[in-house]
Order: sequence, then structure tokens, then C-alpha cells
Amino acid sequence: MTSQPLTVLDREGQPIGYVVGGSLQSTLRVRLTVPPQTIQEGSFVTIRSGNWQFYGTVVDLQLGATDPRFADEPAEARLPRGLVDLLHGQTLYTNLEVLPKLMAEIGPEPGTPDYDAWVREHPEGGRIMSVRTVPLHHATVRLAGAGDVAEIFGEPSERNFVLGYTREQGHPIPIDLEKFVQRSAGIFGATGTGKSFLTRMILAGLINYDQASVLVFDMHNEYGYDDIASDTRQPVIGLRTKFPAKVRVVGLGAETRIHDRTPDFNLVLAERDLEPEDIEMLTRELNLKETTPTTLAALVQSFGERWFHEFRQMEVGAEETDENGKKVPAPHSVAYWANAVGTNVMAAEALHNKLRRLFEKPYIVPDPPPGATIQQIIKSLEAGQHVVLSFGKFESDLDYLLVTNVLTRHIREAWVKKTEAYRSDKSKNPPPRPLVIVLEEAHKLLNRELAAQTTFSTIAREMRKYFVTLLVVDQRPSQIYDEVMSQLGTRISGWLGDESDIHAVLSGLADRDQLRGMLTHLQPREEVLVMGWGVPMAIPIRSRRYDERFWEEVLGKSASSVEENLKKLGF
Ligand SMILES: Nc1ncnc2c1ncn2[C@@H]1O[C@H](COP(=O)(O)OP(=O)(O)OP(=O)(O)O)[C@@H](O)[C@H]1O
Ligand SMILES: [Mg+2]
Repeated sequence: MTSQPLTVLDREGQPIGYVVGGSLQSTLRVRLTVPPQTIQEGSFVTIRSGNWQFYGTVVDLQLGATDPRFADEPAEARLPRGLVDLLHGQTLYTNLEVLPKLMAEIGPEPGTPDYDAWVREHPEGGRIMSVRTVPLHHATVRLAGAGDVAEIFGEPSERNFVLGYTREQGHPIPIDLEKFVQRSAGIFGATGTGKSFLTRMILAGLINYDQASVLVFDMHNEYGYDDIASDTRQPVIGLRTKFPAKVRVVGLGAETRIHDRTPDFNLVLAERDLEPEDIEMLTRELNLKETTPTTLAALVQSFGERWFHEFRQMEVGAEETDENGKKVPAPHSVAYWANAVGTNVMAAEALHNKLRRLFEKPYIVPDPPPGATIQQIIKSLEAGQHVVLSFGKFESDLDYLLVTNVLTRHIREAWVKKTEAYRSDKSKNPPPRPLVIVLEEAHKLLNRELAAQTTFSTIAREMRKYFVTLLVVDQRPSQIYDEVMSQLGTRISGWLGDESDIHAVLSGLADRDQLRGMLTHLQPREEVLVMGWGVPMAIPIRSRRYDERFWEEVLGKSASSVEENLKKLGF
């Protein structure tokens, strides 16, 4: 359902109307001089007025009539053809509402005597700035041409990664990856709108540009190795396939295989990696009581960083008979320890019961082998590699919450340390490599209840202070804590049906009302609205397609991967 190429307006920059009213605070009214069907909501237009060029988007189309009688009664059958045409151009008309966003001083018309002088004074051209004034009455409005689009969004390059194309004329719309990773960002849309596909492409762009490392929490095992699309059953190329030297696929759990392949390495958590706050964060998931923090504090008091290990060894209800023939708690029982340290036995036993789900996790071990630790992941990221952590069969919310949080806490600590070293002595210590953490189903970690307790909301809030940002991917943005939502710099959203989700995606943005219209009218798939801090102005686009051609464009024609070449040779 992509938009048809225009026939009437194929030539770029062709006039489509003239300004008839409006205001800076709201929108400009433009009388349309071409058939309304040739212009869509979200069209990127330019308005030339005096020495200025304005840039804006069409946010509404309205049918009007100078005489309502002609609007009410169909004239097509009654009047001769010529008159009908006149009627449609004059008495009956269409107005556009254009939201002006940017303006640039571009000097007098080329070819006029003043133009050369202006160019000499402004060798770099005019500066682009936020709109502060309005064009004159009757200023000509045009559909933006390729040059205008490039002027505002930049020429495509490794850094300016093409996300998609304008809907009418297919001009490429890039995002500046450098800017994109400077603040946390979000990709939203109802299920099936293309979030994971778009994320895959942005990650490919980031890996190719090579200025930041990425860590993907790949809950559904879709980013590392090749996969099969659930709807089309077509193969979907994984990032590891195209960047075999740069991307490490890490499987959670010692024996875990991903898509029937042995990952580059496996990750297990050391018992001492867990801290009481990692448990408290699971309050709802494990249905913990309010006595939990007290018991955890007593455990840490008793055993220090070995608390999880020691508690795991204990047994609830283990008893022995003392010299008087009385049953008493055995030394390895929870009650024995609780009594000894003077903490509530019932509370300790209840917590032990609740933590059984964690005690049973095979990926939490006393002493992980050196190649399978959180430190190994940190090392890979520091070395400029990218890590896709696949959860394999550990795909419950409990696994996801626990592992992402423990890992991210350690990673952030490492990055904070490095940032502080860098700030204290820039001559000796290099800045940390920027890191983007990708969270699918982000609301599970960033909902109102958890946001305050996890490292993720801290990261979203502190922006790039410590060189770590988030890329959250979610179909239910309304369930993400609003303070986190409003921190997101760049937002890319596909179609959303739910009013509260739409509201959430637009939270904190100027022009929410106008953006809402564009958002609700997106096609259900492969169309997104790009907005927020990371782009000069919001614009709806047709998503780039993720296919062979995409990879040819990103990597260059000859750059098929080692693995593919081997495959072609029959290995
Ligand atoms: N840019 C694209 N290029 C090629 N195919 C696409 C693209 N975007 C979406 N599709 C098609 O749409 C399907 C759904 O896309 P995707 O898996 O990215 O949706 P999603 O938004 O991540 O859904 P969910 O919320 O269920 O994870 C894909 O399987 C693919 O067939
Ligand atoms: Mg998805």
C-alpha cells in the first residue's frame, strides 16, 4: 500500500498553492492550486517569501467554498464541463494547513542583480533556524524538492543513515546517527508495524558507522543469527551474518544454543553479581512481601557478597533433634540462621520460598568460567564490538527483568568509572566508547512501578553524561513511565491504535496536536513518523525496506560476509 508516484507533480519544487492566511502560533493557510489528491497530510513543503525560505509540513486539508450553495449541490451533471472546471478552481477550493517549522535566509531570487552580492556576503548560504516570522500573503508554496530535503535532513552518508523516504516523491530521509545516540531514543508502533525490522536497520547503520557500541537484549532471539519472518516465512538476515567480526552473539546459560547454533560465547551470572536491589526490583514478579528488604539486609550483614550463595544453600524447615530429644532448626536451615542473627524467621522462610524460582536458574552459578561473565561482555563492548544477548529458552519475564537489570547495572558502573577517569585526566584516559543499549518490550522494565528501581530510568534521565543511552522498542508506550518517555530524544513511531499509546509517544513534544493527526493516519505497516530532538522537523516516511538491496547499499556491492562466501562455495 505504498503511495503512488505522482503524475502531475513529479517535477520537484512545482508550485502547489499560495499563502492566504494563518499565524505563527498555529498554522498557515494555503490555497491549493492543484487537485487535492496529489497532496497528502505530512507532505514536506517550502514557502518562498522575500529573502526567506520557510519549511513546513501539511497537517490538514480542508474543502471550502466561497458560496455554500455550490458546495451543497453537485454541479457536475447540470453544468457544462468548462464551467464545472471553473467552479472547482474558483468557487470550490481546497485549503492546506501548513505547520511552519524552520526558515532559512536564502537571499534574493537567483539571476537578479542583488543575488550575486548576497552570495558574496553569505558564502556558506543562509543559516537554518526555527521559524520566527511568517511568509507574506500569496507567497508561493511548493512541494519540497530533493535539494530542500537534503538541505534540512542532510545528504545520506554513513553518518546520515537513511531511515526511509518521503511518501510523495521518495526523497531519502536520513537521521544523524551521531545525534541519535546522544540521547535515549524510542521506536514504537502496534504489533507488526515493523519495529524490529527498523531496529535491525538502525543497528546495521550504527555498527557500520562504528562510532558507538550496541548491546541488544534480544528477548526473542531475532537480531543475531538469521531468522524466518513469522508472517512471510522469508529468511531475515541477522546482524552477526553481515558483521561476523564485529557482532558477538551471546547465549544466556551455559549450554544455550541460539537457532541451533553455538553462540560466540555463553553468559552465566555469578552469585556475587546479585545485589539486594536486584531482588527488590522483582517484588511484583515474585510477589515479595514488604519484609523483604529487612531480610535481605540481614543476609548481606551476615555474609557480605556471598549472601545469595549462602541463602541458596539453606533449607526451609530442616530440623534435627537436640540432646533433650527436642526438634530444633538444623544448622543449614533458614530458621537457624534467622534465629542466630535475630531476624524474623517467618519472613526469612517466606523469602526463601519466593526466591526458589531464582535458586533454580541454571544461569546463576557460584563461579562462572572466565569467558562467560559479565566482564567478558563489558570487555567486548569496550573493544568496539557489539553484543546481542539472546535469551534462548529463558524467555520468561523473570529472566528478562533480572538479567537485563543486573547486566546493565554493572555496565553502567563500568562506564561511570571510565567517564570519571576521563574527566579527571583527559590527557591520560580516553573517553569511554558511546554505548547504546537496545531494549525490546521496554515497558516490562520501564513501567511506572519499576522505573524508579532500575538502572534504565537513570540512564534515560542522565542522557549522555556517562556515554550510555537507551534505544527502547515497544508496542505499548503508554505503559512506559512518563518521565522516561519525556526524556526520549528521537522518537520513531509506526501506527498506533490506542489513544493512550499515541498520547505517550507524543508526550513532551511541541505540536502534539498536529503530530497526532499524522500518527493516526499512518499505514498499518512500513510507515513511520520520525520526530523529536534528533530530527530538524517531524516527518512521516515510508520505511526503508530490509532486504538484499539494503545490505548492498550499506556495505557496498562486493561486501558479502565471510560466512556467505563460504556458503556459496558449498561449505
Ligand atoms: N522495513 C521492512 N522491510 C521489510 N519487511 C518489513 C519491514 N517492516 C516490516 N516488514 C514486514 O512486517 C513484518 C512485521 O515486522 P516486525 O517484525 O518488525 O514488526 P514489529 O513491530 O516488531 O512487531 P512485534 O511488536 O510483534 O514484534 C515483518 O515480518 C516483515 O514481513
Ligand atoms: Mg518486534
